[in-house]
Amino acid sequence: MSTEPTQPGRRRVVLGAVGGLGAVGVASALTACGGSNDPTIPPEESAASSELSSNGTLDVKASDIAVGGGVIVESAKVVVTQPAKGTFKAFSAICPHQGCVVAKIVDNVITCPCHTSTFNAETGAVLGGPSPSPLAPHQLTVKGDTITLPSA
Ligand code: FES
Repeated sequence: MSTEPTQPGRRRVVLGAVGGLGAVGVASALTACGGSNDPTIPPEESAASSELSSNGTLDVKASDIAVGGGVIVESAKVVVTQPAKGTFKAFSAICPHQGCVVAKIVDNVITCPCHTSTFNAETGAVLGGPSPSPLAPHQLTVKGDTITLPSA
């Protein structure tokens, strides 16, 4: 008999990793559940790709970021969101509470997995949990389908 606890809703952390250049990995957490519990339908998750430019900046494809979702650029510890169609924001992915890397962006809410602080995906403001301060904003530029993150 199994006594292992279950945590409905937390079973699947939507993370994907792509590391074409080794040091460059992007985990993505895209839109919320599509409402289907059909196990034959794959979850809405995908990995975004990023490239390290020769000048040290990171490029992320805007089309890899769902509206209301975002991607976490692991190598830069930056989370890039699209709170509204065509509007992109970037923040430090380091949670101000105890330094975990945020892990999920769903319905314009960024969540830290360690103690479930939540942040507004447009402003970085704390929505809930123990974080004492918002996620720090990070610069980005958008040109066509390319979002460029300056090196930290
Ligand atoms: S480290 Fe993020 S909530 Fe504690």
